[in-house]
Parts: sequence; structure tokens; C-alpha cells
Amino acid sequence: QEIFLKDYTSPAFMAETVDLLFDLDEDTAIVTSRVTYKRMDSGQSNLVLNGGEFMKLLSVNLDGHLLGEDAYVVTEETLTVKSVPDVFTLTIQTELYPADNTRLEGLYKSGGNFCTQCEAEGFRHITYFPDRPDVMAVYTVRIEADKARYPILLSNGNPGKTGDLPEGRHFAEWYDPYPKPSYLFAVVAGNLGVLSDTYKTKSGKRVDLNIYAAEADLEKCHHAMAALKASMKWDEDVFGLEYDLDVYNILAVGDFNMGAMENKGLNVFNTKYVLASPETATDADFDHVEGVIGHEYFHNWTGNRVTCRDWFQLSLKEGLTVFRDQEFSSDLGSRALKRIDDVRLLRAAQFPEDAGPLAHSVRPDHYVEINNFYTATVYNKGAEVIRMMHRLIGAQAFRKGMELYFNRHDGQAVTCDDFAAAMQDSSGKNLDQFKLWYSQAGTPTLTVTRERDGGDILLTVHQSCPPTPGQPEKEPNHLPFLMGWIGPNGEPLEPACSNGVWQEDGCLLEISNSTETFRFKDVPTGSVPSLLRTFTAPVHLKHDLSKEEKLFLMSHDRDPFARWDITQDLLRVEILRLVDSYKDGKAQETVDKDVLDAFGTVLADESADPAFIAELILLPSENDLGQYMDVIKPEEIYLARTQFISQVADAHRDIVLERYKKCREMLENQAQYSLDKNSKGLRRLSNTLLGFIKQTSSGEDVCCEHYNNATNMTDQFAALSVIASSEFQCRNEILANFYHQWKGEDLVIDKWFMAQAMSRRDDALENIVNLIDHPDFSLTNPNRMRSLVMVFAGQNQRHFHANDGRGYNFLAEIIVKVDKVNPQVAARLVAPLGRWKKLDPHRQKLMKTSLDAILNAKHISDDVGELVAKSLAT
Ligand code: ARG
Ligand code: ZN
Repeated sequence: QEIFLKDYTSPAFMAETVDLLFDLDEDTAIVTSRVTYKRMDSGQSNLVLNGGEFMKLLSVNLDGHLLGEDAYVVTEETLTVKSVPDVFTLTIQTELYPADNTRLEGLYKSGGNFCTQCEAEGFRHITYFPDRPDVMAVYTVRIEADKARYPILLSNGNPGKTGDLPEGRHFAEWYDPYPKPSYLFAVVAGNLGVLSDTYKTKSGKRVDLNIYAAEADLEKCHHAMAALKASMKWDEDVFGLEYDLDVYNILAVGDFNMGAMENKGLNVFNTKYVLASPETATDADFDHVEGVIGHEYFHNWTGNRVTCRDWFQLSLKEGLTVFRDQEFSSDLGSRALKRIDDVRLLRAAQFPEDAGPLAHSVRPDHYVEINNFYTATVYNKGAEVIRMMHRLIGAQAFRKGMELYFNRHDGQAVTCDDFAAAMQDSSGKNLDQFKLWYSQAGTPTLTVTRERDGGDILLTVHQSCPPTPGQPEKEPNHLPFLMGWIGPNGEPLEPACSNGVWQEDGCLLEISNSTETFRFKDVPTGSVPSLLRTFTAPVHLKHDLSKEEKLFLMSHDRDPFARWDITQDLLRVEILRLVDSYKDGKAQETVDKDVLDAFGTVLADESADPAFIAELILLPSENDLGQYMDVIKPEEIYLARTQFISQVADAHRDIVLERYKKCREMLENQAQYSLDKNSKGLRRLSNTLLGFIKQTSSGEDVCCEHYNNATNMTDQFAALSVIASSEFQCRNEILANFYHQWKGEDLVIDKWFMAQAMSRRDDALENIVNLIDHPDFSLTNPNRMRSLVMVFAGQNQRHFHANDGRGYNFLAEIIVKVDKVNPQVAARLVAPLGRWKKLDPHRQKLMKTSLDAILNAKHISDDVGELVAKSLAT
């Protein structure tokens, strides 16, 4: 059943207070909910509550009177209580079966402990309730459970009474003074260890911080704790926002559908985004922990204090909170590297979404299953939309706009328009046209051309946006376009611009028409423009720069992001030239000499940050290259990219090995593992170089030695990934060694599956299919599923698109199986099959056949059904 934004109506009844009693047994739970309701719409005589099919209704009681079955109607999805008064208290008892809940939505068990996931619509599987974000109430919770098995009992807000009960049971009470929607509710009962700390807010309030995890994992929680304290400080410094409860609790669970959840005062996290030690987590994992801890913390204001009116507004909290966590990570680490990472992710995950059958706008206007809209578009493009506003109105007006937003809307459930209005009012800038970014799907293309007019340059920017499902025609967008100029001798220039404004990092052009021309005064011959600095808008950029100009920017642009981006552009064009030259399985071309030389210069550059060098030499992925072809040729892309690596490795063998050795020596001279910027950079560069070294005659020796000498997961996993995808003698032994070393460490065993899922070896697909039967593989654990199946389908273009359709069949079969266990996880796997339009007719047919097979399977969920149907619609 499709739901439309245009049909929104405000709630007929408001819930004002919610009292919940959780009576927990080993496998079942009895929930008593006592809610006071108030009629808002006099036209509605019946109270309609949401519910789910997995719970049993035990009783309904209105103002102290038990209701007979004629007083209410229960369906699979609702409970309707007939002819209720204007104000009343409704008490409902339900029975739940958390031990059987493999959907990981509502109340479920993970690792023997009880936990919940309510966003978006999980609360309705706990009790009957108006489960929509614009119904905000004050919650009181009491939990009762066996004391020995479940010593820890948690819920939202501040702790209240605790005590013992007969038969070895105990209870705990919680009170959350801030009105909240049901999706922010959480309850936890378990046998858990805790890492505790405190934080003093800027106004002097003491907050107790606790991270709950399995006892054995506590030593891996220190990084998360430090990140939490840093987040609290950052939000005070940058936005003046303070924490508002006496406690901040975090629980880490091994079975979780997403990354983490911002429940008020009680975040529930996937262990992947809490646990980190040098031995078990890579440097990237450490960064992700910091980013996600920040993200959930920042939700306390952007999401919890001010929430969404309805789920179409999801980006109101997610786009804004991603923007905030990106800024947090930039401020703590390196702004340029963080931007490169974020843009790489946007291009890898969001651009394909925008270009495929599942394209939707940042604020979608219809859906069947809201869980299908927790997407890169809503999150990451949504963050880009906020970033563009920030750039258009400036940091100061943005900060003022945030203050205005909280002054106006604290304690409310609001829309994306309300946010934009606060920014418009704080800055005086009209954002009407800008808001098209919320309603129009698709990635615009900007085409930049230059024309000389005497001493001046006329720079013309043309924009267009391709049709997307349901949106054949697009209006021009309003966007910020930052650029610079590099003079003929490599010096930065700042020529006056007719209607651009020079800022610290470049000249800001505001684009709002489909074609705009800017006049730059007195630009010396031989100057080169540095375009779309810091990626100020989420667009495809086309330009008329020659190879020589790109090479010039690559060595002279001082803006690190622009320098990285032009290098990617150059490499992409060059690898695609090789792809095009394939005939009868053989490349007819070799890598351009100038490109090879430039690569050598970068490799030898000792003046730049090693992490940045690593970014420059990391080639565009196979997926990325495919996006730039009309018809993706998976095998040719793989071959051409490998050929490129081999030729670089051949041409620069000595520099590569020398640079690698130097990095390793510098690391070995350090007393211990460190997460400082320089050490991370050295690991990053040497590990990236392994990919080139692999293709040389000393490849096997160096890679295996790298593996054997590794004292941390960053190095160990880098070597494992290269080796798993190689023909080296040592391959099987090292894979076995890794498995035995880490058996029982779930997050590391995930990496073992991942390394094999990414293998490009000829026999990789067969191996992946067999791994489904490995005793450590599991359909019920989302992390394990993702590390094998999602990584394969999403990142192993060569084998997913195997010409005989085996990759597609494999995926389709898994989707149908997992759908029975966990529809949300199954639905996440559909997108790769949906992108058939970009393949050749033979593969298109195979992909559609697999999609048909899913659609024809018995009892598929709405989650999967919605995405498959959209993927098949032409
Ligand atoms: N609000 C969470 C976050 O981004 C995501 C939870 C979404 N869960 C879901 N099942 N759709 O921080
Ligand atoms: Zn979020």
C-alpha cells in the first residue's frame, strides 16, 4: 500500500503520557502500556492505533473498565477502539516473542540480551500505539526481569527507582522528561559489562557516560568513549548545544540492521561502530566509530529535541546530522581527506541510486515501506543539500539559522521547509528555488566551457538534469560553484569576476539558470581554472580541460580536494581509453607516457602528506569507471584497470618499492601503534602501494612478509585483501591462518568473509557461493550477510556480472531466503540487480530474469516487493 506526502493529516488523537511495564521472561515478554490520550479532531470518534502481526493482544482497558470484544476491532495492522471520550486513559496488554524475532525490529534478543529497534515503525510491534513521529509524549518505563540473567535494565531518560522482587527478579524505573515520538523509545535488559566516564557540560552539569558491551569487549570501548566526549564538546563549541539529561547510555549489540540508533539517552549501536582496538580494527574502522558516535550524539538536538513531522521529512534529521558528523570529523582530523572520503562515498553510493530505477528525491513524496528510504540519497545527498545552504549563506548565518530553528521548534515535529525557512530568515537569502534540491531527484550535470574575450575569459556553466522515475522534466537548480585559477607559472590567481565573490578558498559563483556566463578580468594566457573546489554541489562535472591542463593542475593546484579530483579525472579518462581499446580480449593501447610520468612524480613527492599521496594514487574503482560508460563492460574494466596498475608498477618499480620501504621503516621506528595523523598516513600509503607491488616480481614476497609482520589490523587486513585476490602460493595458507587467529572475534571474521567476497580471482565466485555453507556464515546476522553478500554484489563488479548469470542467480536466491528471516536486510540487497539498464542486452535479460524470480517467490515482503517492482518497471 502506497503512502503519499500530499495525504498528510495531523493526528486525530495525541498521546500525552506513556507508562510502560515490561515483564520479561526468557523468550516472551508481557507489555502493559498505559497511555493518556486527548482528541485533537472532533470529527473522529474512533481511536485507530498501529500494531503488528507478531504480537498477541491480551486485553484492552479504557478508564479502568475492561473492554469487551465488541468495543474494539483488531486487524493485522491496527487496533480500533470505538467511540472513545475526548480525554481518556487506555491500558493495553500485549504478549511478545522476542526470542523468535529475527527481523530485529521492535523487541528482540541479541547475544542473549534484550534490546529494541523502533525507528521507523518498530514500536507498533511492542504495543498498539499511534506510531508516527508527530505524536510526542512523555515516557515512564518499568522493567522487570530475572536479576541473575539480566542484571542491567535500561530505558530512555534518567534512572529512577530500582529494587528486588520475589523469585530472584528485580526491577528498574526510568523517566524521560522530554516529549518524544515512539521511534526514539528503547529498552535493554542484559548481562553486560560497562565502561563508565563522566562529562561536565559548559554550564557545569555533570553527565554520567556509560558504554555497555559484552565483558570481553570492554577494553575495545575506549575509543568510542573518547569520541563521545569529543562530540559533546564539539556541539557546545560549534553550535552552542548542550546535553540535556543526567546520563548518556550506549549499548553495543552484535545483531543490528543498521549502524546505530539515537534513542533518547540510550543509543543502541551495532558493535561494528563501537568496538575498536588496534589488533582488531583498521584505521578506517576507528574513524567510522568516531563518526557514528558523533552522528548519534548530534541527533540529540537534530532529530530528538526537534524531530520529523512525518517520514517523508527523514532528511530533516538525517541530512543535517550527517552534515554535522562530517564537520565534526573534519575538525578532529583532516578536512581535505574527510571531504575526499565523503565525495568518494557519494559518487559510489548515491550517484548510482540517482541514475537507476530506485531514484528518489531527498524528500521522497511516496513510499510503500519507509525502511527502503534510509538511503544514500536521504542521508548523503541530504547532507550535501545542507552543505550547499551553509556555503550559500555563510557559516555565521548558518549558525544563527540553527539557533533560530531551535528557538522556533524545540519540542516539535517539523518539516524540511521549516528548516529552510530558519536558514532563509537568518540570512535574508531567498531559498525558494534552492528547495528544488529537496523535491527533484537525479544528479545534475554541469558543463563548463571557456572563451577568450581579449584579456578576459568568459566562463559558461550550463546545467541539465536527466529524467528520473516520475520526473520527466527538471527545473534548473540553485547551487554554489566554487573555483580558482592557476596562473601560467603555477601561481594562484584571483582575477576579478563579474558576479562571483572571492572567498578564502576560491571564487564563489552562484548558479541558478540553466546557462550562466561569468567574466573573469585580465586572465593571463596559459592560466587554468580549478573547478568545483571542495565539491560545493553534488553534480557531475564536464569541462573542456585538455590532458595537459589536467596534468598542470595535478602538480600546481594548491587546493587539495581539487588536486585529488582532477587526478581522478585524468586517471579515469585514461583507464577508460584502455577499456575502449579492448578487442578480442586484448588491449590495443598502452598507458599514456605523460600520465605515467605524472604518476611517478606523485609517487616520489616527499613534501606532501603521505595520506594525501595515497589518495592521489588510489585508482577509481571498477564501479566508478562503469558509471562513466554508456554500457558497463565488467571484464574489460577489470582488465584495463589491472593493466594500468601493472604498467605503473613496471615503469616505477624502484620508486614504488623505495617509497614503501621508507614508510615501513618510519613506522617500525615508532615505539607503538599510534592513531596520529602521520602514522595513519604512513600506513595508508604503504598499504595502497601494496596494490602496485603485488604486480611486480617481488609481489608475493613483499605482500606475504607484510602480512606476517603485521602487528595491527590495518596492515594485516590490507595484506589479506591483496593476497586473497592473488594467485600467490601463500594465499590459502594465509587465509587459513587469519581465520584461526581470529575465530570467535565476529567483526574480524566479517573481514575474512569480506576479503574473499572482493576477490577478483577466476575462481572467486565459486568460492563465494561455497562460503554460504561455511559454519561461520549466518543468514540471521546482518553484519555477516553484508560482509559476504553485499560486498560481493556491490563491490565485485567483475564476478557479480559473470557472463553466465551465476552472480545474479546467487544473489536472487539469497534475497528470497533472507527475506523470510529479515526483510530489511533482504531489501538492501536488491539495488545491484536493479541496475540492469547499464548492462548489455544479454546481461539485462539475465538480471531481469533474476528479478522476476524474486517477485514470483512465495510471500515476499513489502520491503523487497517494492524495490523489485520498481526495478522491473521500465
Ligand atoms: N536513525 C538511525 C541513524 O541514522 C538509523 C536507524 C534506521 N533504522 C531502520 N531500521 N530503518 O542514526
Ligand atoms: Zn542518523
